[in-house]
Amino acid sequence: MNILIMFFALLMLVCASAGATDGEALAKQRACLGCHSVQHQGISYPPAFERVAEKHKDDPEQIKHSIRYGKGKMPAHPTLTDAEIVILTNWILGLELKK
Ligand code: HEC
Repeated sequence: MNILIMFFALLMLVCASAGATDGEALAKQRACLGCHSVQHQGISYPPAFERVAEKHKDDPEQIKHSIRYGKGKMPAHPTLTDAEIVILTNWILGLELKK
């Protein structure tokens, strides 16, 4: 069991060092998923990304701003590039469309 967890941790590390270009991999790499879940499962704080997509579907700038500068208990992310923020934002907004 523990070996399995270590394997996945290692796998994530390897993926992270490869440099992620898709949103989900980037969200893992940047530890977004340490606080956020993707799917809404009855836990609303921090909001699941599906909920964020629903709430801000007409306002990508709000999402970008929150990622860059933080919001409430969410820390700012000054080291993300603009391109990474766009990838993350598009990925989050794309979640709603899949439902
Ligand atoms: C330390 C925990 C933590 C981490 C790490 C974190 N978040 Fe958050 N995030 C939060 C919390 C808490 C909120 C709710 C803020 C509020 O509305 O008070 C939030 C809110 C958000 C929102 C909604 C903002 C809004 O305007 O409603 C977005 C989008 C978001 N996070 C994206 C991200 C992304 C992308 C990352 C990774 C780069 C990330 N978060 C990393 C805790 C975190």
